Amino acid sequence: QTGFVTLDSGFKNTGATKSAITFLDGEKGILKYRGYSIEQLAEKSTFLEVAYLLIYGNLPTQSQIDDFQHQISRHTLVHEDMKKFFDGFPSKSHPMGQLSSLICSLSSFYPECLDPHQTKEEFDLTIIKLLAKMATIVSWIYKKSLGHPVIYPKNKYDYVTNFLHMTFGQRTEDVEIDEVVVNAMNKLLILHADHEQNCSTSTVRIVGSSDCNLYASISAGISALWGPLHGGANQAVIEMLEKIKNDGGDVDKWVNKAKDKNDSFRLMGFGHRVYKNFDPRAKIIKKACDDILTKLGINDPVLGIAKKLEEVALSDPYFVDKKLYPNVDFYSGIIYRALGFPTEMFTVLFALGRLPGWIAQWKEMRENKEPIGRPRQIYVGENDRDIVPIEKR
Ligand code: SDX
Repeated sequence: QTGFVTLDSGFKNTGATKSAITFLDGEKGILKYRGYSIEQLAEKSTFLEVAYLLIYGNLPTQSQIDDFQHQISRHTLVHEDMKKFFDGFPSKSHPMGQLSSLICSLSSFYPECLDPHQTKEEFDLTIIKLLAKMATIVSWIYKKSLGHPVIYPKNKYDYVTNFLHMTFGQRTEDVEIDEVVVNAMNKLLILHADHEQNCSTSTVRIVGSSDCNLYASISAGISALWGPLHGGANQAVIEMLEKIKNDGGDVDKWVNKAKDKNDSFRLMGFGHRVYKNFDPRAKIIKKACDDILTKLGINDPVLGIAKKLEEVALSDPYFVDKKLYPNVDFYSGIIYRALGFPTEMFTVLFALGRLPGWIAQWKEMRENKEPIGRPRQIYVGENDRDIVPIEKR
């Protein structure tokens, strides 16, 4: 503490805002969206319903969700000129870099979003366009990575089915999307939909606090989520599990490496800033793993390694003392892979799920007329110095 500034690197003990959207209890492992438990929502709701709940504050009536779905289906196409951006990316460029650029470019094609004083109707349409087009863009990024032709949205499908149809559908034949896959995708997207003031949400809020438009704010959030310590962990977990499998599956060796301060290796998918107990989402996903892989008839060896890793880590005093438990990213990649997604698409799927939460938090920040975010610092640099001519330096 010096003068009027309290240093709190990483904002570990700083409340940045007041919010009515998501409640976390890290000690008890509780997560609620607008007062509804994540367990109930994951079991009984759909992703589009949860998106409506987060953004507008209540679960929709039948006519409200029908209208929401109808409006979204009117805006699933992206401007054809956006395809030039897709063609410009190197074929193996990371999907998160593409997604961040493409979402920011929406502000060029739909410049009405640039007006910080939109009417409610105009802002609702700006939200609808983003929710609708992000699913199309995510599926097109995947198709481009395969060198396959993109699949256009079909308005007869609901939001999640449409996304899966654009992702796994083919130009040459009709592809039936398995109900198991639709239900699994709904559940995963619901579990990722919001998480109070995490790194990427705080980024979305602070960018929006400068009166910057929604699309550019979400683009900044996508960049923050990309980091392997945040949303990028779901990709890093699978890469870690593959490495352990290829190394003969010696889980104890890797748990010991994670404990070694001189070793930079960390157990990806373990630990959390808030949860000092089980991440409730990890519990739900772990159970869903068994259900979905069994229903799809898939036996993925890394699932066994993940369970053994969890068992060994949670019986080790290092992890127990530091309250390091599996988080949302530990098992999610195993399901994404079972659904047919490649590893580098996992974090983009996290972003698709988190989109309604980012929108809801940005909307709340604006409605509450929060001031521009501008933290202070404690200066530890040089004191007064006079310039010396370069020949004398
Ligand atoms: C997400 O914030 C959110 O809500 C995020 C998220 C969301 O929905 O938005 O939940 C999504 O990002 C989940 C987290 C995904 N990241 C990972 O799985 C990466 C591995 N985890 C860690 O890097 C870490 O646990 C963080 C980043 C998640 C949390 O970091 P903190 O709170 O800053 O904790 P820390 O790094 O200071 O660790 C505390 C101690 C340290 O030891 P000491 O320095 O105190 O001796 O625990 C150790 C760390 O070394 N530690 C680990 C570890 N995580 C923390 N040691 C080994 N393996 C790990 N995974």
